[in-house]
Amino acid sequence: MSKDFKALVVDEDPSGNFISSIQKRRTADLPKGDLTVRVEYSSLNYKDALSATGNKGVTKQYPHTPGIDAAGVVEDSSQSDFPIGTEVIVSGYDLGMNTAGGFGEYIRVPFGWAVKRPEHLSAREAMIIGTAGLTAGLCVKALKEKSTISGMKALVSGATGGVGCMAVKLLSHLDANVTAITGKKDATNFLEGLGANEIISRTEFLESVRGPIAKGFWNIAVDVAGGNTLSSILASMRYGGTVACCGLVDDPSFKGSVFPFILRGNRLIGIDSVEIPIQDKAEIWNSFANEWRVSKLEDMCKPIKLDGMIAEIDKILDGNQTGRVLLEL
Ligand SMILES: NC(=O)c1ccc[n+]([C@@H]2O[C@H](COP(=O)([O-])OP(=O)(O)OC[C@H]3O[C@@H](n4cnc5c(N)ncnc54)[C@H](OP(=O)(O)O)[C@@H]3O)[C@@H](O)[C@H]2O)c1
Repeated sequence: MSKDFKALVVDEDPSGNFISSIQKRRTADLPKGDLTVRVEYSSLNYKDALSATGNKGVTKQYPHTPGIDAAGVVEDSSQSDFPIGTEVIVSGYDLGMNTAGGFGEYIRVPFGWAVKRPEHLSAREAMIIGTAGLTAGLCVKALKEKSTISGMKALVSGATGGVGCMAVKLLSHLDANVTAITGKKDATNFLEGLGANEIISRTEFLESVRGPIAKGFWNIAVDVAGGNTLSSILASMRYGGTVACCGLVDDPSFKGSVFPFILRGNRLIGIDSVEIPIQDKAEIWNSFANEWRVSKLEDMCKPIKLDGMIAEIDKILDGNQTGRVLLEL
């Protein structure tokens, strides 16, 4: 039986402008799939803002509902492994790209996109963490495979943003000595609250690193920015350092030299949270439910209802969000 539900829908007008509005939709019009999920929470990620403003690299067809992650309850299922009532987390693959996403009260997806929500992680906590936290978790897991974390000098760029704030929180939880790079002047309380030991302004950081190899300060780093930020991070790693690179808010291109790699044995690791096997996503969600259970998640999130999302999308595009935006449905 089809149900009516509310969703944020992005439309392309004849002049090529993209306009978002809250519309009534029907579950019968959702794509085919194994699981119909009633979405309880979603979250705002940078990619959602690209989808909502017509970035065809993210979303090719409009009208479209963004939302690359969702936590909710299975209401209809063709899979005995995911019976009605199963609590799930869905993130990545095509969700919110060309498949209607979590900015609607219902989604329908293949069962292979869903993880059973771990017992000790609520749907709300899962979406405060969201894709940004999943990505930060994948960065930390990759760093952990190359280095100890406890006691290491860690650097995080875009530290007040979604991935950045989760990386600061998690690295601090694992007893790293964390330096946060931020472009925001008023972020000290927020970043110290997450556990940052030191805060550097973005400008100061970029100006402090000269040339392709500079004084080495950091053992491990998480970079969400690319561009000059990544070049400067690579140039200032200590011997044997590792950088996990996952984003491009500064620039997808970056300049560099082989010196950090051949003189210091540094490593640059790429992180993808979208297409990785579902078992790898499940492992990170389980870690967040157990050994990575971080405190005070609510302090780093702004809860928003569907009709408040459009303003938040504009803000994330301008690099002005602090922390995570939680969508309550
Ligand atoms: N690889 C993956 O699977 C994956 C998954 C999720 C996200 N991502 C990518 O990761 C990046 C961050 O995503 P997000 O959701 O955390 O976005 P976000 O919430 O907007 O955070 C990005 C932060 O970067 C900083 N920033 C903004 N402009 C910058 C610039 N020009 N140079 C350096 N820093 C700048 C700002 O923090 P400060 O003001 O504190 O500096 C901003 O809040 C995006 O590129 C996104 O596409 C990748």
